Amino acid sequence: MTVYVHDDMAIMPLVGGNAISDEEFSLIQSLVKKQVGIALSEHKRSLVASRLGKRLRALGLPSLRMYYDYLTGPDGTAELENFVNAMTTNKTDFYRERVHFDFLERELVPALKTRAVQTGERKIRIWSAGCSTGEEPYTIALTLCEALGRMPAWDVRILASDVDTSVLSQAAAGIYPLERVREIPPALRERYFLRGTGSKAGLVKVKREMQSLITFRRINLLEEPWPVRTVFDCIFCRNVIIYFDRPTQCRLMSRFAKYVKDDGYLFLGHSESLHGVCDQFTFLRNTIYRRLPAHNAARPAAEGRM
Ligand SMILES: C[S@@+](CC[C@H](N)C(=O)[O-])C[C@H]1O[C@@H](n2cnc3c(N)ncnc32)[C@H](O)[C@@H]1O
Repeated sequence: MTVYVHDDMAIMPLVGGNAISDEEFSLIQSLVKKQVGIALSEHKRSLVASRLGKRLRALGLPSLRMYYDYLTGPDGTAELENFVNAMTTNKTDFYRERVHFDFLERELVPALKTRAVQTGERKIRIWSAGCSTGEEPYTIALTLCEALGRMPAWDVRILASDVDTSVLSQAAAGIYPLERVREIPPALRERYFLRGTGSKAGLVKVKREMQSLITFRRINLLEEPWPVRTVFDCIFCRNVIIYFDRPTQCRLMSRFAKYVKDDGYLFLGHSESLHGVCDQFTFLRNTIYRRLPAHNAARPAAEGRM
């Protein structure tokens, strides 16, 4: 629980019984920025207090300064993972921003079917970068399964990555409370999820058929190079760059441009934009961007493996 005290100027969140000092907050701000690119604004003080307060209690440390010294000291490497997990915001949903999945079904898949007729290529590669607890990559998989007629002839792989190991293991488990899947039409729920019984009552689990299309991997979008060896028909990076500053967004988007095929797509969250950030994509609609053909662009070797 976060406790507040009145300061002369403001209400200060407390960690370990002490108000977060400006120095402590600024150290945490720099560390989060350096580790994962997240730019914490001043009004996130109480969020930092409540999230890191739990870590301080777990470690028996009395102040944020001591926690910072521990994190950045020789024994802090393992705790860095908990720190990063505590600092990320993971809100997500099945069919979040439904218009993107309508686009996959009504435009991308028909175009890929046409390409298959013309060239024989039946490979589809999609990256969900910042996949959180998995609702996004599973919605992509479900949409493709339906649109491709459960796709016996297609080679479909979805890479689902996040920097937060806690949400990533939930994503890989593919188990959700029933109320989380209410956005999924009942017929599709029956087709792609198993219903828990006994001690698992009230839960659903993604069926293996759909789960096997997805590779889950921890990737920090700031790290270079990415452990990714393919180019994608589309990248979903939604509601991730909203937490980054402009220079970080610019670097990330021009790196993504190398990983999207010519005429492939990049999907951002509804409050994100490439305006003034990257000119290698053109705006289509609803935060959907199309990769402009790039002559002589250095691409990763397209091995098809991810
Ligand atoms: C708000 S969630 C968005 C989930 C999903 N894309 C959606 O739109 O529903 C943002 C996710 O980005 C992840 N994230 C933040 N910084 C990251 C980084 N540097 N590298 C990889 N993932 C990051 C967070 O851990 C979090 O799970």
